[in-house]
Amino acid sequence: MTVTSPHLARSDVWSDAALLHALEEVVERELNRHLGVAKEWMPHEYVPWSDGRNFDGVMEGEAWAPDQSKVTAIGRIALVVNLLTEDNLPSYHHEIATLFGRDGAWGTWVHRWTAEEGRHAIAMRDYLLTSRAVDPVELERFRMVHMSEGFEHDHRHSMLHSVAYVAFQELATRVSHRNTGRESGDPVCDRMLARIATDENLHMVFYRNLLAAALQIAPDLAMQAIRDVVVAFRMPGHGMPGFERAAARMAIGGIYNLRIHHDDVLQPVLRHLKVLDIPELGPEGLRAQEELGLFMAGLNEQAVRFDTKRATLLARRAKS
Ligand SMILES: [Fe+2]
Ligand SMILES: [Fe+2]
Repeated sequence: MTVTSPHLARSDVWSDAALLHALEEVVERELNRHLGVAKEWMPHEYVPWSDGRNFDGVMEGEAWAPDQSKVTAIGRIALVVNLLTEDNLPSYHHEIATLFGRDGAWGTWVHRWTAEEGRHAIAMRDYLLTSRAVDPVELERFRMVHMSEGFEHDHRHSMLHSVAYVAFQELATRVSHRNTGRESGDPVCDRMLARIATDENLHMVFYRNLLAAALQIAPDLAMQAIRDVVVAFRMPGHGMPGFERAAARMAIGGIYNLRIHHDDVLQPVLRHLKVLDIPELGPEGLRAQEELGLFMAGLNEQAVRFDTKRATLLARRAKS
């Protein structure tokens, strides 16, 4: 027999269309807040144009060689991963335009967000090519492979899953850009990625506030969406060529790893929304909350084991 509390019944009746409608006011408020705090910035100002010169091929310039790059080895790997992630914007736009629609406040947000994200790849590619930080031929070939694959959210069941995913993903992207800048060894790169990271933070705030509203109007469904997304989280760039190897290097390099994922991405959002303390959930919501709590504890244990392994490896490297 299914136990149906009045609370659960209330949550259960939400369709995606009804939720989009119910959240429209919040989207409008958050959109206006975002437009009020987002500062205009120019990608061309972050690029060291006078360092640039022609490449081989049509312009008969100098071919790229690794010794031209001022960026650290780990910085080069992370910059390519982060740029390819940004490059897949057409697929992300398609995903959110399909789920959120292109009308009203939702549509205005979808287009504005897309325009802001477009700036990220522009700034990064201009910087990488002008400063000869990475192999331009490999970068272009990877871009073709990655974009030809497209991107689909792992959680296509509902718009709440999408909102939950992007709330965590925008923060993950912010942290990854920030740490890449720090580890790049080039202050010009660091400054550009810090600027991009500021945008990603505002995107995270938008989606996090939307998720807070969803937790109020449909707490059980929102809780289940958060659990589903957190336990199966993957970075948006997971399909790119060589991702596993690059991700492993970035983990050891302190750009993105289990500890960072737990402490700097999942925990801040969960704590801000008080997800694990939300009372009076129905049976499904309560189960999701408990599973989420268990998952976070398990993830922390894994992160402790990872930290130990990483420290040993770094100590061994320092000696050799
Ligand atoms: Fe971005
Ligand atoms: Fe973003």
